[in-house]
Amino acid sequence: MRIDIFTLFPEWFGWFSQQRHVGNVLAAGSKLQCFDYRETTPLGAGQVDDSPYGGGAGMVMRVDVVDRALEDAYGQAGRRPRVIVLTPSGRIFDDSLANELADEPHLALLCGRYEGIDERVREHLADDAISIGRYVLAGGELAAMVVADAVLRKLPGALGHASSAQEESFSEALGGAPEYPHYTRPPSYRGWSVPEILLSGDHAAIRAWRLDRSRERESEGS
Ligand code: ADE
Repeated sequence: MRIDIFTLFPEWFGWFSQQRHVGNVLAAGSKLQCFDYRETTPLGAGQVDDSPYGGGAGMVMRVDVVDRALEDAYGQAGRRPRVIVLTPSGRIFDDSLANELADEPHLALLCGRYEGIDERVREHLADDAISIGRYVLAGGELAAMVVADAVLRKLPGALGHASSAQEESFSEALGGAPEYPHYTRPPSYRGWSVPEILLSGDHAAIRAWRLDRSRERESEGS
């Protein structure tokens, strides 16, 4: 898989690329590449934004700047990746969308800054608009990292144990419910004990207990 990030802060992604699970998938052949809008902007002095038509606070990323960055990366014709703009007003990102994106061979994540991106990017250049939650970040970079993290960890070889991603919160194995609680040594700490059943060695009973806890969390809305 290849993920391209369009941003004004490509250096932010250096740290991200070094995280273990990301490094694992990159070593296995996937690619994570950054494109800096300022390097391809058709405007002078590295300009990428402008004041909003109709007035209002802040600046808006220009459509011509984003278009040029995409054109420079992919050419005018030919196969483009699935282009996704990160915006607080997009479709809410969840595990099933992460699965859908993990099946794509090539994604382009467009990060906005300032007050946002000219709407014509969403209308004419992007295939999707995604939000990571109903709050506003200073830009799309952290949202792009969240999306890339959730997608890349689903790829083969990302995690130490392939089974880690199979039975985790919101997975099909748990019927989309949150994961059951985990415990490790010591069995008792300050009087806080691990549930007896987990120490019993009875795998069928443990499995049933875990599924019950997962369903319980689902109904609590946690
Ligand atoms: N950019 C700013 N806030 C965002 C959010 N909540 N999700 C995605 N992109 C964003």
